[in-house]
Amino acid sequence: MSNDSLIVAIDGPAGAGKSTVAQMVASKLGYVYLDTGAMYRAVTYLVLQRGVDPSNHQAVTSVAKEADIVLKSNAGNAKPTVILNGENITDKIRTREISNLVSPLSAIASVRDVLVKQQRKLATGGSVVLDGRDIGTVVLPNADVKIFLTASVEERARRRLKDLEKQGEKANLQELMVEIEARDTRDSTRDVAPLKVADGGVVVNTDDLTIEQVVDRILEICSQRACHSE
Ligand code: DC
Repeated sequence: MSNDSLIVAIDGPAGAGKSTVAQMVASKLGYVYLDTGAMYRAVTYLVLQRGVDPSNHQAVTSVAKEADIVLKSNAGNAKPTVILNGENITDKIRTREISNLVSPLSAIASVRDVLVKQQRKLATGGSVVLDGRDIGTVVLPNADVKIFLTASVEERARRRLKDLEKQGEKANLQELMVEIEARDTRDSTRDVAPLKVADGGVVVNTDDLTIEQVVDRILEICSQRACHSE
């Protein structure tokens, strides 16, 4: 299969499996994986660390500008390492506190401006898989492949529960379903870059598919696009 320098955008709601799938697709294609959610999480971490008032948009934007975020891919399926201003924060950005605060912070237009610019720069040249909420709609609307990955709220809450339990955090399914629904509503109704299917995007519902099946489906779409771009 020819897969020269494609830009693959994978958007979708929280817990749809985007990061696992995006990482596997990148690894199969020999591409770089860019977890844009980790960038918003890193800014949120720094806001909390500095004790900045999240409702002060100007202050939060200054924090975003000062955040030197480096994402390093890891071999296999391990999550990418996230370095913020020289500190490894990989395991510190997946807490419930950050998951709940990142959504309102990522709705601030000036914060998005800062990160979107960086994401476009990182994707220059292609051979990259990015996952997020607005990759196919705003960040890279000319991406070669645009996927909208989704799953039911219950299925997504179940997956989140497993992840949190692995990290030793307590949670229950009902509570997580309420949190996920609230996050979906915020992410899809915000004024800037709301979560929605991109023009030309392919919706993939993962409820009844294994991860491998989802990855294969996306690779098949990449292969078709690569042929068309030859
Ligand atoms: O994918 P994630 O759960 O790590 O994303 C964290 C938050 O960041 C999520 O609430 C939405 C936001 N986000 C965004 O607004 N745009 C992106 N491209 C990626 C994430």
